Amino acid sequence: MDFITLEDIDTATRAIGEYTSLQPEVGMILGSGLGLVAEVVEGADRIPVEDIPGWPIPTVEGHAGYLVCGNLESHPVLVLQGRAHYYEGHSMSKIGLPIRVMQRMGVEILVVTNAAGAVNPDFAPGELMLIIDHINLLGMAGLTPLRGPNLDTFGPRFPDMSQAYDRELMNLAREVAREGEIPLHEGIYICLGGPSFETPADLRFLKGIGVDAVGMSTVPEVTIARHGGMRVLGVSGISNKANLDGQTITSHEEVLAAGQVIAPMLLALIRGVLRRL
Ligand code: HPA
Repeated sequence: MDFITLEDIDTATRAIGEYTSLQPEVGMILGSGLGLVAEVVEGADRIPVEDIPGWPIPTVEGHAGYLVCGNLESHPVLVLQGRAHYYEGHSMSKIGLPIRVMQRMGVEILVVTNAAGAVNPDFAPGELMLIIDHINLLGMAGLTPLRGPNLDTFGPRFPDMSQAYDRELMNLAREVAREGEIPLHEGIYICLGGPSFETPADLRFLKGIGVDAVGMSTVPEVTIARHGGMRVLGVSGISNKANLDGQTITSHEEVLAAGQVIAPMLLALIRGVLRRL
């Protein structure tokens, strides 16, 4: 099957129902090395994603591969601890499956996080960036999870993307950051195909088109979420300086190490936003 169907979505949703009776309001996707948030969920049911039919299984270190259902700040949440990326070989359509399932379970708000390289020279590793918009470069070339028959029960064939990231949720995040003295940059995220990191020329191109942070995820998931009308909050953890001058080397180890610093701040930010919902 090239494209996921309503039946695939319902089969996966039913399988999760065998493990948990929770009806989540908020869904979360945790980026590379940012699994901490899933560890503090209260009364958690932990579902190995291998047990969910059709689920895109993460294969990369730093992505645990559990769906964690429980409560955080008195909200029922469904946390995807570890995501699958396009470069692992999953189809774009399949990468959208977890979001569709979350929505089928009742999720209305999606918090997406990722590890990203800083293209903006003012950003440093270990800092957070509120994603205020994204550039859908892969989508512009046709690589989108919405390719294929439209699932009309979720949304229209041609969904609007004028507010990919919810203004109210962004304001809540700004408020939390200000009050908690959590440094929070703001900027534009771009998803590339990966898995190779960028060349200096790639990065100069990205800088030129207005990118602040670069990664290999998030945009497909946000596209699906918005198609279904979910409200989205997006946060990047800056794991490395982008190598615009060709003088530094980027590695996955560096990305995971930065995650250790970023995860507690990210957790504080997410807790604060949940408290204000
Ligand atoms: N480039 C692309 N993806 C990334 C990076 C990067 O520098 N850091 C973390 N994910």
